[in-house]
Amino acid sequence: MTDSSFLTSGQTDEAAAGAAVAAVDPEALLTVRHLRVVIDGLHILHGVDLDVAPSGVTALLGRNGAGKTTTVKAIMGLVPRTGSLRFAGAELVKLPTHLVVRQGIGYAPEDRGIFAGLTVAENLRLAERDGSPAYDLVHELFPELKQRAGQLAGTLSGGQQQMVAIGRTLLNGNRLIIADEPTKGLAPKIVSEVADVLERAAATVPVLLVEQNLALVRRLAGTCVVLADGRTAHRGGTAELLADEEAARRLLGVGRPAPGPAAGPAGGPAAGSGSAPASSTVAVPPPVAPTAAVTTEVAP
Ligand SMILES: Nc1ncnc2c1ncn2[C@@H]1O[C@H](COP(=O)(O)OP(=O)(O)OP(=O)(O)O)[C@@H](O)[C@H]1O
Ligand SMILES: [Mg+2]
Repeated sequence: MTDSSFLTSGQTDEAAAGAAVAAVDPEALLTVRHLRVVIDGLHILHGVDLDVAPSGVTALLGRNGAGKTTTVKAIMGLVPRTGSLRFAGAELVKLPTHLVVRQGIGYAPEDRGIFAGLTVAENLRLAERDGSPAYDLVHELFPELKQRAGQLAGTLSGGQQQMVAIGRTLLNGNRLIIADEPTKGLAPKIVSEVADVLERAAATVPVLLVEQNLALVRRLAGTCVVLADGRTAHRGGTAELLADEEAARRLLGVGRPAPGPAAGPAGGPAAGSGSAPASSTVAVPPPVAPTAAVTTEVAP
């Protein structure tokens, strides 16, 4: 999955921007190359490259404002984009959202998109796309959704709402699920529930997970892509990145501060080890203004 021929360590952003198209991983389910987004004249994404593995969880990481949500919105066609988005052999970059969805991509947005005044069953029914929604699968993975079918979604816990959000994406035989910060704002106990939800879902369908909780990322994601300032700054094995204190601090703002006056923000030490795949990194300039660091709050 890892593309060590992509950007070599120490390569600058400028060099990266002018680099040839990154080699394509033939096994990747979704291959994003040179993804650019301009909104109202503002250049938000300058060239995002990422590959989503054909199984399990691929994490999309980066500091606040790095461009993670814009990247997934661009994949879904929710913002104007250029570049290449090859999904299971089909090019999506010119498709509007409803046709991207029909290709088999389920999206659980940052705000969950739950209708609080409707029941769990009604929320799921609204997501049905064809004549044979996979309620058996959804109820098998999340029995609570069956038990709470008549409950108003607005009265569910944050973790239960995430079950609805993820459950909706599983109803229609999707081939990829994209979940944007499903643990945002949740208490640690609920984060743990959501981790279980994602783990169950990922056993069935590959997941592209935008996440700031590194304990959860470490538990779920084999590979990761890190964005910085609207560009891909790193791709590789998750355990490998989190075990590299210097890289984790530079790319994600976590880990022990480096010695000297330019020490970064303190955080929990990154763990993880083992035979991680090779990685590729470009130099990331320090944020201009103080940037919120990725949390190391324990999920599992
Ligand atoms: N519609 C828009 N108009 C102007 N600027 C935007 C728009 N959408 C996003 N941006 C800017 O683009 C940058 C990337 O935003 P984005 O929401 O993709 O970041 P993110 O990595 O998801 O951040 P977070 O971790 O806070 O969710 C930010 O600086 C944001 O302010
Ligand atoms: Mg976001």
